[in-house]
Amino acid sequence: MNYLITGGAGFIGSNYLCYVVNKYSSDNFICLDNLTYAGNYSNLKSIINCQNFKFIKGNINNVALLNEIFNKYKIDVVVNFAAESHVDNSINNPSIFLETNILGTNNLLEVAKKYKIKRFHQVSTDEVYGDLPLNANEKFSEKSNLKPSSPYSVSKASADMLVLSYFRTYGMPITISRCSNNYGPFQFPEKLIPKVIDRALTNRTIPVYGNGDNIRDWIYVIDHVKAVDKIVREGMVGEIYNISGNCEKNNLEIIYTILEYLGKPKTLIKNVEDRLGHDLKYSLDSSKIENELCFKCETEFEKGISETINWYLNNSDWLKDIETGKYRTYYDG
Ligand SMILES: NC(=O)c1ccc[n+]([C@@H]2O[C@H](COP(=O)([O-])OP(=O)(O)OC[C@H]3O[C@@H](n4cnc5c(N)ncnc54)[C@H](O)[C@@H]3O)[C@@H](O)[C@H]2O)c1
Repeated sequence: MNYLITGGAGFIGSNYLCYVVNKYSSDNFICLDNLTYAGNYSNLKSIINCQNFKFIKGNINNVALLNEIFNKYKIDVVVNFAAESHVDNSINNPSIFLETNILGTNNLLEVAKKYKIKRFHQVSTDEVYGDLPLNANEKFSEKSNLKPSSPYSVSKASADMLVLSYFRTYGMPITISRCSNNYGPFQFPEKLIPKVIDRALTNRTIPVYGNGDNIRDWIYVIDHVKAVDKIVREGMVGEIYNISGNCEKNNLEIIYTILEYLGKPKTLIKNVEDRLGHDLKYSLDSSKIENELCFKCETEFEKGISETINWYLNNSDWLKDIETGKYRTYYDG
């Protein structure tokens, strides 16, 4: 089978590709990524010379390029990771989120329809359900209403609805996964966990929104990519699957864990003005994927976070090259 993986030079996409390219040597994986500030070609260095892998720099909004790729590589399956993914950026500049996350998904769907692909998998987020009060016991299931709060989550919810409409209207074989907050190797240091590690290592202040009590459900990225792989291969067409790490923690707990691991003082923490419209709590019920696809996360938070911190300790050049901008020069193709 021939797979088109979009956004594969980003955090989750690159972890997914490193997993599947090695696991399935008889499948071919074409990565399409336009290397925005969040894309890093070096994330793919362990697979770049594999026979069953090819990287193409390009935009999912370039319809001519999409047609060329589907035609040339006889694409059977699309897994769409490509997105603008940082909520703060969406608050400052929503337009690019609508362009990439909604129009880009629509362009992919249109070309996928034309080439009658076997599966279109949309990588979505728990943020499409909106938030819960901090003291809520409720969890969002796949049947919960969509109530996104930020321009980012609105763009992801819109894309989900488009994908579902291609199933209902055209019978396209789609699946959608909605995952909670990921952490692990190769995450861009704009996001909470790598930002805290990066700043703590260099003894810089660690900004925390409000009083740091916002709760997220955390999942180790490798568990997420294994779940996506399972859904793409075994998931029921037309279905949505939540993917939860079953690990709810507030931001301060996360920061304290990292500071303690690195032996750094809590005095580095600095409370800053809260994010506009900041979601309070996400909580996800993932019993559907557990019961129907027999999927269970394997990585406990304590193990996942220590592996993550060690990865950043052992890959300080990766962080340094982002800081200096050198990472943007890696791709010279
Ligand atoms: N990070 C999380 O915790 C999380 C949780 C749930 C769902 N998701 C979803 O998973 C997906 C991947 O997230 P991530 O954290 O790896 O994001 P990321 O920002 O690290 O990576 C996104 C990748 O998409 C590429 N890209 C952006 N616009 C593009 C375009 N127009 N054409 C081609 N490529 C483009 C970027 O260059 C980058 O490589 C996103 O769809 C996101 O909404 C993320």
